[in-house]
Amino acid sequence: MPNPPDRTARKIKKRKMRHLVTLDDLSNFEIEQIFRLAAGMQSHLETWAGICRSKLLATLFYEPSTRTRLSFESAMERLNGGTLGFADPQATSATKGETLADTARMVTNYADLIVVRHNWAGAARVIAQHTHIPVINGGDGSHTHPTQALADLYTIIQRKSKIEGLTVGICGDLQFGRAAHSFALAVARFGGNLIHIAPKPLQMPPWVLAQLEQCHGQIPLEVESITEVIDRLDVIYVNRLQEERLPPSMDAAAVRGSYLLNASVMENAKPDAMIMHPLPRVNELAYELDDDPRAAYFEQSANAVPVRMALIASLVGLEQLILTQPPERDIALSTQTCENTNCVTNYETYLTSERETFKGDVKLQACAYCGNLLS
Ligand code: NCD
Repeated sequence: MPNPPDRTARKIKKRKMRHLVTLDDLSNFEIEQIFRLAAGMQSHLETWAGICRSKLLATLFYEPSTRTRLSFESAMERLNGGTLGFADPQATSATKGETLADTARMVTNYADLIVVRHNWAGAARVIAQHTHIPVINGGDGSHTHPTQALADLYTIIQRKSKIEGLTVGICGDLQFGRAAHSFALAVARFGGNLIHIAPKPLQMPPWVLAQLEQCHGQIPLEVESITEVIDRLDVIYVNRLQEERLPPSMDAAAVRGSYLLNASVMENAKPDAMIMHPLPRVNELAYELDDDPRAAYFEQSANAVPVRMALIASLVGLEQLILTQPPERDIALSTQTCENTNCVTNYETYLTSERETFKGDVKLQACAYCGNLLS
C-alpha cells in the first residue's frame, strides 16, 4: 500500500532568482542586510570558509580590471568556492562573433553565478536575461558599477556610521565614470546630499540627474572647481578621467589634468572628511595624500572583498534572509530604439527595446538596458 501523503510537510516556496545588474535590483533593507553580513564576514573571515564549497563563480571580463576581478575571485575563494573565466575577450568566441546571449547560455552550464564586465552599457542585463543563474554587473560601459557603490557605501558607514545628512562631493569625470553614477544614486537613496564637481563637459549625464530628481528629490549643486566647496564636504569622492570612453568629438586636451585633489586643497577640508576613489588613479589624486588619515581609498578596495563575499552568499541563496523582497520595477517592451551609441541594444540586434518607468512628479522613461532617457 502506498504511503499516505505527509500533510505536515511544509511547502517549500521556490526562491525567485536574483541578479545585481543595477542597484535598483536591491531594496535599501537588502543593502543594509548585505552590509551586516559583510561586517560579520570581515571580522571572522575564516568562519565563513566552506559555505560556497562546490559552487563556481564565472568571471567574464571583456574589459580590463584589477580590483573588481581579483576581489571577486578572492571573495569566492575565501568562501571556498571555485572560479573560472577570462580576462581577455580576444581569447574567447566573442572574436568569432558569438553573441552575449549565447555566451550566457553556455556559462549557465559551467557555473553557479556570473560576474560580467563589458564595454557596452546594458551588457550585464543581457547576460542576466539569458541565464538561469544569478548575474552580477562588474561594470557596463559608462553606465553603472553597482558592486563598487556597495563597497563605497559600506566604507562610508564604517567611518561615519551613516550616509544620511552627509555632504558628499563627487569630483572628476562624472559624464563617463560608471562608478560615479552608481555612487551618486546610492548616496541619494540613503539620504546623503550631493555636490557634483567637474568641468562642464564632464558633468553628470541627464539620465542620472533625472533619476536623482525624480526618484530621490535631489537637484545637486554643480560646481567646476573643488576649491569652491572643499570646506563643506564630509566625503570627497574623486574619479579619474575615463580617457578610453571620451568621444572623438570631445576636446580631450581641454579636460585632461583639469582637476586634482592634493595636500594643499585638503588644507581647507574638514578634519574628519573622507577621501575616496574607486581606483585606479592616474593624476587626479596626489600620492602625498596617502598618509593623510582622511584617505579612505585603500580601505575602500579592501572592503570590496567582504562586501562581495556577502553578496555572493546572498545571491546563491546560502544566506536566505538577506534578499527578501525585490523592489518593484515598471519595465515593459518599447517600440522606441535607444539613441545611446554605447547601449547594448545597438550592437546585439536580436534584443527588443524595453523601457523602465520611474515614478516621480513627472513620469520618467528610460531605456531599461542603459538608463538613457527616452523622449
Ligand atoms: C572603476 C571602473 O572600472 O569603473 N574601477 C573599479 O572597478 N574600481 C573606476 C575606473 O576605472 O575609473
